[in-house]
Amino acid sequence: MKKHLVLMFVWAHLLPWGSAEKEMSAVGDPGMKRDGLRVAFEAWNFCNEVALEAPHMGSPRAADCFDVSNSTLIHKVSEVDNRLGIGKTFKGMSADVMYNPDLYAAQKELYLGSLCEVSETSNPWQFWMVMLKNGNFDTTTGLCPENGKNPIPPFTTKRFPCYGKGCMNQPTLNHQPTQLLPDGTMRGWFNGTYDLDADIGKDLNLSFYEVIWEKKLGSGSWVFNHKLKTTSKYPWLMLYLRADATKGFSGGYHYETRGMLNSLPESDFKVKFRLEVKKGGGPKSQFYLLDIGSCWKNNGKHCDGDVLTDVTRYSEIIINPDTPVLCSPTALGNCPPYHITPDDRKIYRNDTANFPYGAYHYYCAPGNAQHLEQPVSLCDPYSNPQAQEIVQLLPHPIWGQYGYPTEKGQGWVGDPRTWVLDTGGLASRLYFYQDPDTPPAKRIWTSIDMGTEIFISDKDEVAEWSLSDVDIILM
Ligand SMILES: *[C@@H]1O[C@H](CO)[C@@H](O)[C@H](O)[C@H]1NC(C)=O
Ligand SMILES: *[C@@H]1O[C@H](CO)[C@@H](O)[C@H](O)[C@H]1NC(C)=O
Ligand SMILES: *[C@@H]1O[C@H](CO)[C@@H](O)[C@H](O)[C@H]1NC(C)=O
Ligand SMILES: *[C@@H]1O[C@H](CO)[C@@H](O)[C@H](O)[C@H]1NC(C)=O
Repeated sequence: MKKHLVLMFVWAHLLPWGSAEKEMSAVGDPGMKRDGLRVAFEAWNFCNEVALEAPHMGSPRAADCFDVSNSTLIHKVSEVDNRLGIGKTFKGMSADVMYNPDLYAAQKELYLGSLCEVSETSNPWQFWMVMLKNGNFDTTTGLCPENGKNPIPPFTTKRFPCYGKGCMNQPTLNHQPTQLLPDGTMRGWFNGTYDLDADIGKDLNLSFYEVIWEKKLGSGSWVFNHKLKTTSKYPWLMLYLRADATKGFSGGYHYETRGMLNSLPESDFKVKFRLEVKKGGGPKSQFYLLDIGSCWKNNGKHCDGDVLTDVTRYSEIIINPDTPVLCSPTALGNCPPYHITPDDRKIYRNDTANFPYGAYHYYCAPGNAQHLEQPVSLCDPYSNPQAQEIVQLLPHPIWGQYGYPTEKGQGWVGDPRTWVLDTGGLASRLYFYQDPDTPPAKRIWTSIDMGTEIFISDKDEVAEWSLSDVDIILM
């Protein structure tokens, strides 16, 4: 009690000096309130590369960035810039990437970033990122490395979807540059399909993605309306809105990146946003209320671009109530070795009386880890440029203290909500693999995003959601 009083006394003295000012946003556009929008687009193949550009689309990187002056939108990126593809030069491009679609895309992102950059403060930032990914994997191509090892020989498996040659293609990209409409709404969009030779408007059952953004000039938040449709040819698609680091590597991408996070969140931060899920996308839609990504090596050191030892780390909370619990007392290999409670108690997964099995959808360990506790599930070795580790959570009372969903259905269709998630508190207590006797990695989250991964659906499915007011607040 005495200690408590002393603390209160100190607190009271500190307040006037600005405890409120201590809270700082980690994103360039806190709450998405800035009229002058910065948004970009990137599309990835199965291992987060390009491999082959879609005909006439250029490299799958684009941006819509503008300032507003006297009710006029002054665009910073032209459609010529957006269609830049291999063989075409741009300012800052190094000659050796000219005919390499992977490296070209990485440099095009930097170029678009240079056009969009806002440097009003000492921490410049570039854009929110719409990320689209095709989950088809043609294992006969040898295109994707195995835990970063390249090249790999072609192999056959039924594990990955692919209808045949060309299944890993990039999509079409249509863009309506943001316009100011007569009613004072600003509106623009990206959309497209993976079905490259389809007759749009005539062919039914086409894969489809779309992101429409809109905002009233001078008030409110940008609202990003997303749609994603899978088909039998493209049964595994992902669409997210990401806040990525403005420099360095962001989650899952092994090239220098551009983004929105001009301060990098570590352990003391909250993620705030409003999400309305309109269509769930079926039982296979792993809708991530939140996905956080980072990278560190198994010895705890920072990633440096060496794909053999860098490991992407992801944690996601899935809110689709149809998502099953794969971690259980009889499937310990799908659970992390232990859980840490908010008061920092460790509960081993073999402690069947206390371990919160229902709080974990699935855990998988990096394929290049040398000292794994058995039993263990290894993460897919092909879907990232390097090894990866994934901790997937489900709504559960144990997460309540962090403001996370505690029950199935929360935040799902019919339950739009504004979330304030203590992601820093939760993420610093998650299990991630490290080699024994190595200093704990500094967990710096370089990617924070929301959206869905429709994971190999046997039916055509549509997911639809809107996201607004995104902020990441450093405490
Ligand atoms: C703003 O636009 C209005 C209408 O087009 C024009 O009359 C006015 O001069 C403009 N103001 C400035 C500062 O450019
Ligand atoms: C993209 O949206 C426009 C405008 O709504 C529409 O005409 C077009 O068909 C859409 N593209 C695709 C691939 O569906
Ligand atoms: C579209 O898909 C539905 C269900 O997957 C199927 O029954 C229908 O025949 C398909 N239509 C076309 C034109 O392919
Ligand atoms: C539970 O797992 C921990 C960590 O692996 C181990 O030390 C302990 O002996 C196990 N307990 C039982 C009862 O198996």
